Amino acid sequence: MYTKNDYIAVFDSGMGGISVLRQLKKLMPCENYVYFGDSANAPYGSRTTEEVRALSLAAAEKLTSEFPVKALVVACNTATAAAIDVLRKTYPDLIVVGIEPALKLAYDSFPGGNLGVLATEVTLREEKFDALMHRFDGNCTVYKIPAPGVANLIEAGKNDSPEMIALLRQLLTPYVGKLDALVLGCTHYPFITRNIASIMGPKTQLLHGGKGTARETRRRLEKAGLLNDGDGSITILNSSPDPKMLKLANALLTGGKLSFED
Ligand code: DGL
Repeated sequence: MYTKNDYIAVFDSGMGGISVLRQLKKLMPCENYVYFGDSANAPYGSRTTEEVRALSLAAAEKLTSEFPVKALVVACNTATAAAIDVLRKTYPDLIVVGIEPALKLAYDSFPGGNLGVLATEVTLREEKFDALMHRFDGNCTVYKIPAPGVANLIEAGKNDSPEMIALLRQLLTPYVGKLDALVLGCTHYPFITRNIASIMGPKTQLLHGGKGTARETRRRLEKAGLLNDGDGSITILNSSPDPKMLKLANALLTGGKLSFED
């Protein structure tokens, strides 16, 4: 019932999932992608779990009703934490892939180390995160670092603004010199890697799960015999009526190399 020409639908609360879309496109350039950024409702990270669930279901419904979709990528840690189970139940035949903070990668790289996870309040308070922490716990010490306000500034295109630097300093200064790795547990944050790295210094490695999500999507499509071999295309949609948001999304999609990209 699905065909290889069908779309890979990707959504996030706004711009963040573009960092995952970049990894998907790099790994599978022949695919047709439709990306929905829900900027009108961003940020998801300070909402209630029920709100994030309802918004995620609405985003999935929009994408699957408007496009022939063969896979749904939840390119948002917050939406994955709150809604991946209900999305899988709602679309039992569809390939549904989420993103989680890259804690396993951090545990594997720094056994027994000191690890920070920078993420939204929702991601860090959901049971899924504690389960993830305990699943891989290699006697590491994990610091949860909620980062309210950071995604909002990225949505406003203020990645390098004085407000961003001040907010990051306020959040991260207590951890400078203390962490072996800092997991960027929100898909917006790869766009501000340079600023985070300059505060944390070279001894803290920054990690992100975008590549793992892209690999898992390819694995699932390959297994189902649904990998495409066409020319590939990308359609970007945004819930905000402000045309600036589509411009920003395109700029982030085609902009300079991110430090997580080879
Ligand atoms: N990009 C989203 C994530 O990965 C969250 C940003 C927001 O708070 O909306 O968690």
